[in-house]
Amino acid sequence: MRTIALGLAAVLTLSGAAPARSPVDDHASALAALADVRAAVAEIVRIEDGYAVGHGAYLRAAHRAMNALVGRRDDGYAKSFGDPGDGVGTLGHLDLMLDKAGTSLWTPAVQGAKANVLAAAEDLQSALAQKEMEEYQADLTRALASLALVVGRPSQSGVLGGLSGALANTSLGVPLGALSASGCAAPVRAPAYGVVAGRLAYVALPRSAASAGIPDDLSVARVVVQGDMVVLYTHAARDAAALCRSASRLQRTRSVVASPSQISYTVAQARAGAAVYRRYCLQCHGADLQGTAGPSVAGADFVATAQRNSWSLSDLRTTVFENMPFSNPGSLTPKQYAGVMAFLLASNCYPSGAKPFPPTASPSFAKVKLAAVPRAKPANAKLGTCPVK
Ligand code: HEC
Repeated sequence: MRTIALGLAAVLTLSGAAPARSPVDDHASALAALADVRAAVAEIVRIEDGYAVGHGAYLRAAHRAMNALVGRRDDGYAKSFGDPGDGVGTLGHLDLMLDKAGTSLWTPAVQGAKANVLAAAEDLQSALAQKEMEEYQADLTRALASLALVVGRPSQSGVLGGLSGALANTSLGVPLGALSASGCAAPVRAPAYGVVAGRLAYVALPRSAASAGIPDDLSVARVVVQGDMVVLYTHAARDAAALCRSASRLQRTRSVVASPSQISYTVAQARAGAAVYRRYCLQCHGADLQGTAGPSVAGADFVATAQRNSWSLSDLRTTVFENMPFSNPGSLTPKQYAGVMAFLLASNCYPSGAKPFPPTASPSFAKVKLAAVPRAKPANAKLGTCPVK
């Protein structure tokens, strides 16, 4: 029976009561996890190639590979052998990504990667106990096979794609702060990432950047040159296009009856929603809700867009609950979504009431059209937003 001590998950699991932390950059975590796997593989391959010989040399290789996988905070970490990875270890990075309230389209791939890292770590552990060179090598070969699955391949999504597949085909491929756009429309700017319901549909690069070579960790199914941009459509683009078609059918059949009724949320809810906003929305919509990578979500500019498109409260609710955060739709709890809705309504100067904004949809929302609130006194005269204190 082989066992391996992995205290890391416990160390990194943050309690629910923890103060709001800055958004975890899942993209950076995935890249760091991959780098640690590659460092581990390099250690194993070097020794398998007969670069170094003797019992001491191969023990060292297995320990170093293990260190890169489990990270410094794990009991399996052997300090004296040094670490070819970054100290957090593949498992540390993967646990950070999995330690979330909700799930993403890429969650199964990351869970699969974690299972394969654990399998590889067990094989390394076993290799460390072997006296015979042949058995040692058999263990390392098994470890390498598991690590190949962790890396996966860009052309495949889901569990089989491993980390590269998730980076190449889902919102995990979008760096924090990068410009994301709706993958349903043709790109207008580069660099930009086209996303549809968690799928990465395209990466638009300036032609100058693309001519230096297309990064091979992208999953390129189709290349379209468009003006001074090169648009790389991913293997997930076809799937994304089907989703766009069904979404636009929905849009056309939705009819909004204009007859104002009460919009309700509580002050406490709006305050809680402000924290949700800071953690999950601010990066794209800005500290003043003025819009940065995404459009504005409060104030004169937002209300003008809402009126131009005849948005009802139901449309706004659907956008927020089902399509946001853009990079990770549907990943928050209904309570968090209701809170952030309250925060948006308050920031748009809608008066608070006694009843909280509900976590479930109500048919009456379709009858409430969004418009500038009469007699509102926006504190931020320039943007036209109201503060939430
Ligand atoms: C990764 C960037 C990103 C994050 C994070 C994000 N959004 Fe968005 N959001 C966008 C983009 C891009 C659009 C425009 C979508 C489109 O045109 O299809 C958008 C549109 C919206 C809209 C509609 C506004 C309009 O004019 O189209 C609302 C409301 C909104 N987001 C709210 C939120 C909320 C609330 C959160 C946090 C829970 C959030 N967003 C997180 C990028 C983001």
